[in-house]
Amino acid sequence: MRIVILGAGTWGTALARMLCLAGHDVTLWSALPEEIREMRRTRAHRNLPGMVLPEGICLMEDLAGAIRGREIVVFAVPSVYVRGTAARVKAHLEPGQILADVAKGIEPDTLYTMSEIIEDVLAEEGGCPYPVVALSGPTHAEEVAQDMLTTIVAASRDPQAAATVQRVFSNEFMRVYTNSDVKGVELCGALKNVVALAAGISRGLGYGDNARAALITRGMSEITTLGLRMGCREQTFSGLAGFGDLMVTAFSEHSRNNRCGYLIGSGVEPEEAVRQVGMVVEGIHALAAARTLADRYQVEMPIVEEVDQIIHHGISAQEAVATLMGRALKSEIPANR
Ligand SMILES: NC(=O)c1ccc[n+]([C@@H]2O[C@H](COP(=O)([O-])OP(=O)(O)OC[C@H]3O[C@@H](n4cnc5c(N)ncnc54)[C@H](O)[C@@H]3O)[C@@H](O)[C@H]2O)c1
Repeated sequence: MRIVILGAGTWGTALARMLCLAGHDVTLWSALPEEIREMRRTRAHRNLPGMVLPEGICLMEDLAGAIRGREIVVFAVPSVYVRGTAARVKAHLEPGQILADVAKGIEPDTLYTMSEIIEDVLAEEGGCPYPVVALSGPTHAEEVAQDMLTTIVAASRDPQAAATVQRVFSNEFMRVYTNSDVKGVELCGALKNVVALAAGISRGLGYGDNARAALITRGMSEITTLGLRMGCREQTFSGLAGFGDLMVTAFSEHSRNNRCGYLIGSGVEPEEAVRQVGMVVEGIHALAAARTLADRYQVEMPIVEEVDQIIHHGISAQEAVATLMGRALKSEIPANR
């Protein structure tokens, strides 16, 4: 298959390497020409130490040339750049191309998921003429770049496109499952990052595994309740894109959301914590949308709310913990579930 990856960040680069070694014809494009020039020179990536970029990957700055003749176009830029990237590619797309998104997030003002943003930007009369597939799951780029076993979910309303992406991305190291609950898969991918921030904050405060397990479980309960109100399927939340991704994000040293939370819990100001992490911290970008969705669907999301209080309203992590622990006692399972 001829594939172009848009975005030469950590994830885009790890995927480009994996797909190339699996025998596909891969082009990697970046909006930052200096990034491509550096990778051409070093065949390496600054955030993936030890990884060697195979010679077979074509590195390109020219967007039109990168997209021409490709069968799959993968959006691998951070969520804040997905709309802009979709607008840039619009003029160059060709009939029959499948679009895949691997970015995780929700746009704060529209509340669109990443695939919805792409469909919105590319819409013509009668809707978006390209099938869009969201790829999401417990997948750290650092591990994929070292051929460590990984699973992921390909979610699309177009079963044929999902099956194609499933086949192309599956290899001896990666196993892909399909799921038709696109909204549920994308909601999990965006909101688990907020819970991972909370898990990191708890660790930074010196709390242990009990607190982390509680945050993961109660955090997923918040996300599931919201998702069900939005019409998503319950199994998605206990699946790879749900609990699977939340576990890996809240437990792994590779998770930048977890690491950013840890710094904040240790007393570092949120802005400085993001600077120290040095890569996109999607959980912080997802907070505004999570709060708006909670309001709109009338769902209590106390963990999301307290993380937002810490990041955006100057509440200390200790105060947030006191608020969570002091909430009225209740049943674990909501009456309406
Ligand atoms: N890193 C992972 O392990 C991983 C795994 C699964 C999903 N994701 C998701 O993939 C997305 C990308 O993550 P990442 O880890 O590669 O992030 P990253 O911080 O490594 O990405 C930075 C890259 O974004 C691109 N970029 C920078 N400015 C841009 C601009 N103005 N316009 C377009 N592109 C620009 C550049 O190629 C840059 O290298 C995120 O939504 C993330 O949640 C990441």
